[in-house]
Amino acid sequence: MPVSYREEVSKSLLILLVQEPSYQFIFSNPKAEQPGSLFSLTPFLPVHLTGTKYSCGSGGCGACTVMVSRYDPKTKKIHHYPVTACLVPICSLYGAAVTTVEGVGSIKTRIHPVQERLAKCHGTQCGFCSPGMVMSIYTLLRNHPEPTPEQITEALGGNLCRCTGYRPIVESGKTFYSYTSLSISEVPFVFCFVEMCTKLYNEDEFQPFDPSQEPIFPPELIRMAEDPNKRRLTFRGKRTTWITPVNLNDLLELKTNFPEAPIIMGNTAVGPSIKFRDEFHPVFISPLGLQELYFVDSTDDGVTIGAGYSLAQLNDALHFIVSEQPKEKTKTYHALLKHLRTLAGAQIRNMATLGGHVVSRPNFSDLNPILAAGNATINLISKEGKRQIPLDGRFLEKSPEANLKSEETVLSVYIPHSTRWHFVSGLRIAQRQENAFAMVNAGMSVKFEDGTDTIKELQMFYGSVGPTVVSASKTCQQLTGRYWNDQMLSDACQLVLDEIYIPPDAEGGMVEYRRTLIISLLFKFYLKVRRGLNKMVRTTSLGLWFQCLRTAGNKITCFVHEQCVDPYQPPQDPVGHPVMHQSAIKHTTGEAVFVDDIPPISQELFLAVVTSTRAHAKIILIDTSEALALPGVADVITAEDVPGDNNYQGEIFYAQNEVICVGQIVCTVAADTYAHAKEAAKKVRIVYEDLEPRIITIEQALEHNSFLSAEKKIEQGNVEQAFKHVDQIIEGEVHVEGQEHFYMETQTILAIPQEEDKEMVLHLGTQFQTHVQEYVAAALNIPRNRIACHTKRAGGAFGGKVSKPALLGAVSAVAANKTGRPIRFILERGDDMLITAGRHPLLGKYKIGFMNNGVIKAADIEYYINGGCTPDESELVMEFIVLRCENAYYIPNFRCRGRPCKTNLPSNTAFRGFGFPQGIVVSEAYITAVASQCNLTPEQVKEINMYKRTSRTVHKQIFNPEPLRRCWKECLEKSSFSARKLAAEEFNKKNYWKKRGLAVVPMKFTVGMPTTFYNQAAALVHIYLDGSVLVSHGGCELGQGLHTKMIQVASRELNIPESYIHLSETNTTTVPNATFTAGSMGADINGKAVQNACQILKARLQPVIRKNPKGTWEEWISEAYEESINLSTTGYFKGYQTNMDWKKGEGDAFPYFVYGASCSEVEVDCLTGAHKLLRTDIFMDAAFSINPAVDIGQIEGAFVQGMGFYTIEELKYSPEGVLYSRGPDDYKIPTVTEIPEEFNVTLVRSQNPIAIYSSKGLGEAGMFLGSSVLFAIYDAVAAARRERGLTKTFTLSSPATPELIRMTCVDQFTDMVRVVRRAPY
Ligand SMILES: Cc1cc2nc3c(=O)[nH]c(=O)nc-3n(C[C@H](O)[C@H](O)[C@H](O)COP(=O)(O)OP(=O)(O)OC[C@H]3O[C@@H](n4cnc5c(N)ncnc54)[C@H](O)[C@@H]3O)c2cc1C
Ligand code: FES
Ligand code: FES
Repeated sequence: MPVSYREEVSKSLLILLVQEPSYQFIFSNPKAEQPGSLFSLTPFLPVHLTGTKYSCGSGGCGACTVMVSRYDPKTKKIHHYPVTACLVPICSLYGAAVTTVEGVGSIKTRIHPVQERLAKCHGTQCGFCSPGMVMSIYTLLRNHPEPTPEQITEALGGNLCRCTGYRPIVESGKTFYSYTSLSISEVPFVFCFVEMCTKLYNEDEFQPFDPSQEPIFPPELIRMAEDPNKRRLTFRGKRTTWITPVNLNDLLELKTNFPEAPIIMGNTAVGPSIKFRDEFHPVFISPLGLQELYFVDSTDDGVTIGAGYSLAQLNDALHFIVSEQPKEKTKTYHALLKHLRTLAGAQIRNMATLGGHVVSRPNFSDLNPILAAGNATINLISKEGKRQIPLDGRFLEKSPEANLKSEETVLSVYIPHSTRWHFVSGLRIAQRQENAFAMVNAGMSVKFEDGTDTIKELQMFYGSVGPTVVSASKTCQQLTGRYWNDQMLSDACQLVLDEIYIPPDAEGGMVEYRRTLIISLLFKFYLKVRRGLNKMVRTTSLGLWFQCLRTAGNKITCFVHEQCVDPYQPPQDPVGHPVMHQSAIKHTTGEAVFVDDIPPISQELFLAVVTSTRAHAKIILIDTSEALALPGVADVITAEDVPGDNNYQGEIFYAQNEVICVGQIVCTVAADTYAHAKEAAKKVRIVYEDLEPRIITIEQALEHNSFLSAEKKIEQGNVEQAFKHVDQIIEGEVHVEGQEHFYMETQTILAIPQEEDKEMVLHLGTQFQTHVQEYVAAALNIPRNRIACHTKRAGGAFGGKVSKPALLGAVSAVAANKTGRPIRFILERGDDMLITAGRHPLLGKYKIGFMNNGVIKAADIEYYINGGCTPDESELVMEFIVLRCENAYYIPNFRCRGRPCKTNLPSNTAFRGFGFPQGIVVSEAYITAVASQCNLTPEQVKEINMYKRTSRTVHKQIFNPEPLRRCWKECLEKSSFSARKLAAEEFNKKNYWKKRGLAVVPMKFTVGMPTTFYNQAAALVHIYLDGSVLVSHGGCELGQGLHTKMIQVASRELNIPESYIHLSETNTTTVPNATFTAGSMGADINGKAVQNACQILKARLQPVIRKNPKGTWEEWISEAYEESINLSTTGYFKGYQTNMDWKKGEGDAFPYFVYGASCSEVEVDCLTGAHKLLRTDIFMDAAFSINPAVDIGQIEGAFVQGMGFYTIEELKYSPEGVLYSRGPDDYKIPTVTEIPEEFNVTLVRSQNPIAIYSSKGLGEAGMFLGSSVLFAIYDAVAAARRERGLTKTFTLSSPATPELIRMTCVDQFTDMVRVVRRAPY
């Protein structure tokens, strides 16, 4: 039977959860003594329960989701809800049952249908997010056994996945829904086209879901909850005391005695302050669960809601009220409900309370502006009695006389009904549709004199425009008595801009954008009210600005068209079939072991980093004395402690004498716990002296002539000459900003020094073990044969674990060497983002010569990338950009040059696509610009200039573009591009403030490296005497399904079922000198090596098989052993023959090309800059896919990652080079709500005899196809600009954030504020 979390392991937790209530409980668990530890369940999870993952620690990613169940003695019901364990205070769980993924199901006992279906629907890749996904769906099922598709999407909104693109995760959840009630067109499913033989999964294999089989709620907890003799609970730690009052009087008593103690409810405001802002409180009062705070009281005039209600409960209560009350009374509730749908994710909404939200009053608060606009009041209580205060502007602006007193508690919030002539609205715009703080939000209300459009009372509250929510009270006063018409609006805009001042250096930047939003949101409110009034009375005409805005639905459908396998292929042969990821079930049960899951090792120490706070400075002093004196600290490690090279190949392990970027590791602190190490790290004092120059941007690097390597150039034809014979020449610049990998598992290393011969064992998630071995050997000054690296799996990598683990491995190994103890080095999300950097920002300059018919005759392109402070992979990235920059187009006179810039930023590194996603945006941008000049569509110019027959690339490599042509043609046809383009134009004619845009991008991508030896691979295959086979190879499993494909290869080659084959890990002792797992060639080259090994073994077995052809595999193995046949061998692949001569600018640089095309359609809200992705169609040349489920997963995952890169992911630096975006709060990767509402992926068949089984490497190619969204946005914005009379060509940089979109859709509102220019980095 599945067990709930109540395992008899953690003594303190056990007592907390079930056993005798210990009223004066003193923590026996040492973790309780760590700073801030009372505030997170995560450190208390028993070490062997590895399923609950830790990825951000701030409630923003959902990896740590668990289910909390409580019994409500009043309703006698059990309430199940999801929470993020990293923010749940351990003490708040008294009397609750916590179920982690281990309690849902396990391979050892029985897996749960949620786990099975997520795995079988291919909803896991690296698996690091999977336990969190399971817990979110599982909790939903506990409350709604047949959830609707909308409920599933809503439940997953707080869970980030960086690998899959979400489609298969949502699909697995939808299998629990009965579609009988839907019409056929609404049914989302994996579509089977006529030509498709295999489905990605077989629903008949799913075990049925029987909700009655779930574990019962522990009866002892029911008894505890119903105990009439409850008493106050006190939990004492060394530094903090937690008190849970027994009733309201007790709470008031406590509040009188400890007026400064915070009231902890959801802990979603207090917790992050303690964790990230070092807030300290000696006493906490937590009335969580106190009956008096949980109620809804509905009267004729309004509704009173208890302060203890979570935002999720508030949502349910409001839904009930709106279903009961006439529409005109519920306008405030509707506005609140709209924002409650997108406020944070489901977990936070279930934790955060109404009282906590109202009192904490963050400036970005989504509900407070609406509550204020709806004239809500706060009911307070203290020992002195009860009183009411208005939830108004003065309260929100934290005016002391409008505030609650320190001894007062919020009992409830009263929200009056709206009335017939009263309109209330909530408006918000965030970087991402859901689970993102608003960039600006507002709550607005207007009351009219009955039967007229004369303003009786107007209220406007804005969030995220200052340190608090602010009220535009003066504006409102001045407009009272005016008619609701265009003139009033025009005056209102000016008045509100005058009243709400955002200083130029305001925190959060985006000043002009936010000022524009202030009036754009006001205008939206104006329109909404105008519409409302119009329905009610015939008033003045609607005014010029009035437009009907359509909102698209939230339906995610997906059609996956994939391939047929040969009908003569033996049924046992898995090649070509959508085989589930080898570790999928382990991922979903949480039993897959990541480095942090390796149990503690005796004597191990934790490492915390001290990083530079200056971009370029001399180190005058490193004072470690205070840090060393702190409890638990074993040592501080600096450059002095590196026995070998501290600066190896230009990469510096510990800063010495000077620092060259903010985030450079200066020293590390080793201590018995991470909390101790971190505390001590804060005490290390470093004195700097700033040095010049400090180079942050590409432009500054160009000024200083600061480069990391020489220029790379390719050229064909005579560019200068050609420019003389063209009709038109355009020149332009394109800025493409960087990207954070945001792998869900941050960089984690376990370095274990061995007793003998200076051996060092490292466990780490990396893409390049050989590199780690090399760097560690260099740092320790020992031969590489003493260093063993082990990689079971990495929780996502995307290029970020190619070179950085070597640096971090060396840092850890030096610490292990100095202390002589094992070192566990887990980078916190913020440190990871700061130290390891990401994709290179790029500046592309182009000069294009073309004829009026759209034929491009000459192109001269220059690229610069921001490489950061050390070489890393920047030179190679630039080589790749230059080699691939022509994309799919033939331009007879073509020159491309590029150089990586050296700056004082952390060193940028490999990232999926390796320069291609940035570089090719420039090509697509100039094609679009040419189209605009020639009055053609971009698609026409693409078609005109696209390669059409077997040709040579600019670097003179022959290729046949036939699959490119097919992808392009099918994409245009099957997406009904022309018809939809016309429909979009029609839509645009009717809608002034919303515009639709479509774009198709073609792609010629490359696989592999321009150097043969980088393409080599090796494998080691053992056959054991029971017939089982162990395969090892040099590739690392990063979630991309490499090991799964390798098992498929071995299965085909040895002609045995996959179940006979095992693949345990990658390590340097079995396969030495392995190349990186990157460049989309992991399966290609390791597959060849595994194939080679298997073929060698098969050949050795032939005599035995010939002797006994009808024998079994086991019999042949046994016979072979008796005949002394060696049952173990290495396999080897020498590498694809590639070369590149940079002096000549020529070479067969790549083994082959991957082609594709993608079409996207978006709808842009010109007033806010938000966009919706309506549909995407991808056609990818997969040749013959070894595993279509894995390949489709890669395409979709890469596409969504690309879409994030081109639209919402934005890294923010200060001019001094300090990275601001250091976690999911500030850096937004796509969530489930960003994926296309309709998503069609088709694998296009072609030939690729050079690769194993004629397959193609598809790990990266989908990334660039995400740019179809960028260009669709461009198309929509261009439509808006044309309508506004702006015909001049414009360049939309990447990412096309809401800010950029809004400010490019120039109109009367943007004209009222100064136009912003973004600083390019
Ligand atoms: C990942 C994440 C995403 C978020 N996204 C959004 C978002 O998109 N939009 C948004 O508006 N907000 C967002 N928030 C903020 C969230 O809404 C608030 O943190 C939350 O509402 C606070 O409620 P709580 O119960 O957790 O408060 P707590 O953290 O428990 O307490 C907060 C403060 O309120 C006081 N307090 C609590 N209850 C009472 C009471 N009854 N009487 C007197 N004082 C009391 C406490 O003393 C404390 O000072 C997000 C938070 C997180 C962690
Ligand atoms: S680790 Fe808890 S939400 Fe990210
Ligand atoms: S599978 Fe979701 S993050 Fe890797």
